[in-house]
Amino acid sequence: MDLDQFAALRTPEGSAALDAATERAGGDPLAAAGALRSAGIPAGLAAAALTQAELRRRAVGKFGPEAAGMFLTRPGLEQATRRVVADRRADRLRAAGVRTLADLGCGLGADALAAARAGIRVYGVEADPVTAAMAAANAEAAGLAGAFTVECGDATAFDVGRVDAVFCDPARRRAGTGRRIFDPNAYSPPWDFVTGLAERVPHTVVKVAPGIDHALIPAGAEAEWVSVAGDLVEAALWCGRLAEVPRRATLLREPSPTAAPLLREPSPTASAAAEPGVHHQLTGSGAVEATVGPVRRYVHDPDPAVVRAHLVAELADAIDATLADPSIAYLYADAPGATPFARCLEITDVLPFSLKRLRALLRERRVGRAEILKRGSALEPEKLRRDLRLAGPEAASLVLTRVAGAPTVLLCRPVG
Ligand SMILES: C[S@@+](CC[C@H](N)C(=O)[O-])C[C@H]1O[C@@H](n2cnc3c(N)ncnc32)[C@H](O)[C@@H]1O
Repeated sequence: MDLDQFAALRTPEGSAALDAATERAGGDPLAAAGALRSAGIPAGLAAAALTQAELRRRAVGKFGPEAAGMFLTRPGLEQATRRVVADRRADRLRAAGVRTLADLGCGLGADALAAARAGIRVYGVEADPVTAAMAAANAEAAGLAGAFTVECGDATAFDVGRVDAVFCDPARRRAGTGRRIFDPNAYSPPWDFVTGLAERVPHTVVKVAPGIDHALIPAGAEAEWVSVAGDLVEAALWCGRLAEVPRRATLLREPSPTAAPLLREPSPTASAAAEPGVHHQLTGSGAVEATVGPVRRYVHDPDPAVVRAHLVAELADAIDATLADPSIAYLYADAPGATPFARCLEITDVLPFSLKRLRALLRERRVGRAEILKRGSALEPEKLRRDLRLAGPEAASLVLTRVAGAPTVLLCRPVG
């Protein structure tokens, strides 16, 4: 989409075309295009409206019902922060006393809108003209045009002296191809500019890929990993006065449509702090090694945010658990740990990995359905499932792992 096509979508005719496209989104695209053309909508406008309606439909999972009024591009939507994560970040910035924020590379504005909703005045800068125009339209649609303004330009030229805080979520996909960029030096704005922000602005937050190499985390920054309903979605570096602890794992879930707004936690601790049903945080140094011991009755599979934050030792402490292999993040305990930070399974059998022996055991137990978890195993779960030729009325969980270096399979059942 170019600026002219976007402008056409914002006219009364464009709005009517969008309404017509929205009614047909999710159905047969050729039939939808035919219906819009039959209603007298010009082909170019019909195509733009149908694309927009389809993107809005896909965006509901990320933004909730507000997606219905947003303007989106495919790469912008793919890179946008989901609302539950953006709201939580905005809430934390506001609690830290931030009143004015520059969002340097604001994309479609998901983070900026959350900050504006939290009562922060946001100055967005976006290099791509269509994305910048859409971000401004999204602010208007959300009734936040006075709190979030967008300038189209190069974020590296923004005068950061104008604001209390900066947020930067650099593009990690190549413009044009949409291919993921794994090397931070190829991010845009560039990594040295992004990390240099922390030296210029005392309140700086940078969103990064959850796979970031720990060696790249600037000294003194807090690195936070965030998961939503068990899926690892991002990492953020909280720099300067915003850094509270070295490492944090934050577990969020999508709020139910009727839920009250997110509440802030009082203050983080080196153990777990929780708001029932809303979010959970585990904090610590990220530098402690968990103790290694034998396989015990219960195995705990930590949330990926805990693993990536290197907080497995802190979790082990909290649930009185040990590893069975120093390099594998399964935690073993004599009792099921009542923790939101890990899934717990009861181990019924431990055997050195052998397809023949495992098949025989599962046949004896009449296991016809198995979920397969793995850490530290090169086995392909779906191939193994086929090779096991499961049959029977029972269900089981199989954990493929290593114990003291040896390939091992744990036959398990869920706890409670
Ligand atoms: C990852 S996206 C931001 C997504 C945003 N946080 C959200 O949740 O909607 C990064 C954006 O930065 C923009 N960008 C990249 N380099 C830039 C630069 N030097 N100046 C301004 N914007 C830039 C890209 O066009 C892209 O829209």
